[in-house]
Amino acid sequence: MKIIAICGSLRAQSSNRALLQAAVKLAPKGMEVTIYEGLARLPHFNPDDDEEGTTPPPSVAELRSLLAAADGILISSPEYAHGVPGSLKNALDWLVSDGALVDKPIALICASPVGGQFAQSSLVETLKTMNWRVVGTWASPKKVRDADVDDEVAGTIRTALAILADTMLTIGF
Ligand SMILES: Cc1cc2nc3c(=O)[nH]c(=O)nc-3n(C[C@H](O)[C@H](O)[C@H](O)COP(=O)(O)O)c2cc1C
Repeated sequence: MKIIAICGSLRAQSSNRALLQAAVKLAPKGMEVTIYEGLARLPHFNPDDDEEGTTPPPSVAELRSLLAAADGILISSPEYAHGVPGSLKNALDWLVSDGALVDKPIALICASPVGGQFAQSSLVETLKTMNWRVVGTWASPKKVRDADVDDEVAGTIRTALAILADTMLTIGF
């Protein structure tokens, strides 16, 4: 099972990226989690560049083929001003028209134990509108500082990955 993980923060010391790095280490046997690092390279979404017959920018084509080849997706994102970070929303806007991603299982996690609920519910709404299969949302029970998470945080990550795996098996990934 191939999982592509996307971090909604571009910060060098991002706690959400640390959570995803922990997921890389905690992935169960048979599952491989790879962190996508191209968010900052994506151009601003412009529907003119997304019309049928147009060639997408190379960074967009790369993201689309990575996600199409994945069995599932994991997003960990902060919340900015009660919303989804613009760079993450920009990436999703490039993916709205991609039929290959319909029904793709996706789990949402968040490194912050408090707050973040507005961004997560907004992400759920957007992803459902895109017809992706949201399997659940989780917040870390503690603040995450690096990828060496304790048992409690590891438990939350393992639960999210297990439900993602169950969904992939159910729909026959
Ligand atoms: C511009 C800005 C706005 C923020 N707005 C919110 C907010 O509305 N709600 C919230 O819970 N946290 C908010 N935060 C805090 C971040 O979500 C929090 O620091 C998060 O853990 C950062 O994630 P990262 O470590 O992956 O970069 C904001 C942070 C910044 C920089």
